[in-house]
Amino acid sequence: MSRKTVLIYQRPLKPALHERLASECEVLDFSGENNLRDNADFREALKRAHGLIGSSVPMDRELLAEADNLEVISSISVGVDNYDIDYLNERGIVLCHTPDVLTETTADTAFLLILASARRAVELANMVRHGEWTSSIAEPHFGVDVQGKHLGIVGMGRIGAAIARRGRFGFNMTVSYHNRSRHEDFEQELGASWRELDELLRECDFICVTVPLSEATREMFGQREFELMGDQAIFVNISRGGVVDEPALIEALDNGTIRAAGLDVFTTEPLPADSPLARMDNVVALPHIGSATHETRYAMAELAVDNLLAVLNGQRPRAPYNADQLGR
Ligand code: DGY
Repeated sequence: MSRKTVLIYQRPLKPALHERLASECEVLDFSGENNLRDNADFREALKRAHGLIGSSVPMDRELLAEADNLEVISSISVGVDNYDIDYLNERGIVLCHTPDVLTETTADTAFLLILASARRAVELANMVRHGEWTSSIAEPHFGVDVQGKHLGIVGMGRIGAAIARRGRFGFNMTVSYHNRSRHEDFEQELGASWRELDELLRECDFICVTVPLSEATREMFGQREFELMGDQAIFVNISRGGVVDEPALIEALDNGTIRAAGLDVFTTEPLPADSPLARMDNVVALPHIGSATHETRYAMAELAVDNLLAVLNGQRPRAPYNADQLGR
């Protein structure tokens, strides 16, 4: 029987995982290539592909229309906003992703942003780095406390709950959350209260966003929402840049409508060097590192390889996104 063809895109696989794939499939590796949409070799290879594994490349209808043999896309990410799910479902293509294995690491990133923005860590570390620490730090450089404050989680999934756990048990914070559905299990475990979004924005000191990007969540944070948060609020976004009206956020940070922001995600990534967000003192901006540790990125890639091989071998993958397409 002829071997199935798999394309690796954008994210390289460690040798052990690459070898596992290659022991079962013909592997074409495009992980070192940028701008795959305009890459003639990639587009030619797509026509033969039974499986794709990688992340961070928008896979839309126009691109996938060329992939006549495609059975599965195995994304090395938990977020699936790069994929045209309706089109995958029309074609019966299985989409897999990597939940769970990145939950704790991503929650650590959120807390890193909460602490760094509250204590002005980047701004003050830069002062030291540039030789500008010339006298004892006084009020103009003070931060605000994190412990004992009110943490608001928008999007109470696995990652939201892991952030809330850190806040509740590590920092003695009061936790509120907003989510389409209520989670009584988290309410009991964390003493968390469900709130209407506006109420949560008004009440909380830290607003941490973990919702997936969809048409329902696109630009859900704009001028009105920043005004509701108020001038003591710290806004933290680890989901996707598209959930924020970015010019409105820049304005709110610039004119003091909110206190500060900790951002791991942006509407355009990499963040353009001329974006004000790259330079504002009250912004801690990270280059989308939510899950970027050696251990977690390996675990994600391993899960993605498991998912891919399972589907190609007619078995149930560990983490299907559109499970209803299995066996279609
Ligand atoms: C994810 O897994 O969705 C991360 O944001 C990386 O893209």
